[in-house]
Amino acid sequence: MTSAENRLLSLEGRVAIVTGAGKGLGRAYVDALADAGAAVVINDVDADAAEAAVEQIRKAGGRAVAQVGPVGSTEVAEALVNRAVQEFGRLDILVTNAGILRDTVLWKMTDEDFDDVIRVHLRGTFTCVRAAAVRMREQGDGGRIICIGSPTGQVGNFGQTNYAAAKAGIVGMVRTWSLELARARITVNAIIPVAATGMTETAPFLKPYVDALHAGGPLPPYARRELSFGTPEDVAGLVVFLASDEAASVTGQAIGLGGDRLALWSHPAEAVVAFADRGWSATAIAQAWNKEFAEQQQPAGQKFPEPY
Ligand SMILES: NC(=O)c1ccc[n+]([C@@H]2O[C@H](COP(=O)([O-])OP(=O)(O)OC[C@H]3O[C@@H](n4cnc5c(N)ncnc54)[C@H](O)[C@@H]3O)[C@@H](O)[C@H]2O)c1
Repeated sequence: MTSAENRLLSLEGRVAIVTGAGKGLGRAYVDALADAGAAVVINDVDADAAEAAVEQIRKAGGRAVAQVGPVGSTEVAEALVNRAVQEFGRLDILVTNAGILRDTVLWKMTDEDFDDVIRVHLRGTFTCVRAAAVRMREQGDGGRIICIGSPTGQVGNFGQTNYAAAKAGIVGMVRTWSLELARARITVNAIIPVAATGMTETAPFLKPYVDALHAGGPLPPYARRELSFGTPEDVAGLVVFLASDEAASVTGQAIGLGGDRLALWSHPAEAVVAFADRGWSATAIAQAWNKEFAEQQQPAGQKFPEPY
């Protein structure tokens, strides 16, 4: 989507916080939100990246400030909300995007690998959304909360125990918050993005496409459609849409975007149901499993092309 097309959905007068917005997808989100007219609070642990984003947005005529700090704690979350209110008088939109990876297989994953990822993604999303919800409920004008999931959280991925737990947990919280905050007219949705960033550049099966992007060339339809792989800017239109008045009735959803592929994910639902009078013995389950359930077992993992 071009910036002119994004601007058709105006966010003039709105105030947004985006965490982890110095680089990668967060940077594209914050640029698009500012371009649509929102004032933005740019959070990152990387102060230089956050300041550079602020400078560029201001140069283009937008309103932006940096609030540096590691997302995860209540203190950082509350400081972010306070900064939005101090600088711009209110808070309308929160995008919880900050993230890290500590990939390794289960049997090599340390407690620290697990805790670091859970702290930034899962706890960081919880603390920031809680602080934002308090403020938005006080304001009484509704609001937009956009959290970030991942294909890994939806279907699993080799080497990502910690990240799968965090991202699946985020989507679980999103569904819960969409119920809890509905009365306050605050929508809560999850984006399931895919894009070329520092986070994905090292995936071997994406290398040819990352190289193509670095060379300034377009990506083939296979990458943009089947792999859902493109640039961070390809995903930004979804953030602007979800933040806009057009999405007032969209809540509790997990929506994928990457390259040319926009997708609505299904929520978990029972795939097969059977009943037994007076309950299920192990033997009865074994019989029913083979007869009715076995063929309906659900796939795990993502389909990656060679050489993954
Ligand atoms: N790139 C993808 O294909 C992809 C796919 C699925 C999900 N995601 C998710 O999208 C989000 C952004 O990822 P990205 O690919 O742009 O990664 P990235 O590494 O390019 O950017 C992440 C940003 O977050 C910042 N950050 C890290 N820890 C932080 C903390 N504690 N507090 C504040 N900022 C912090 C980093 O400095 C960086 O600027 C993440 O939540 C990631 O899990 C990305």
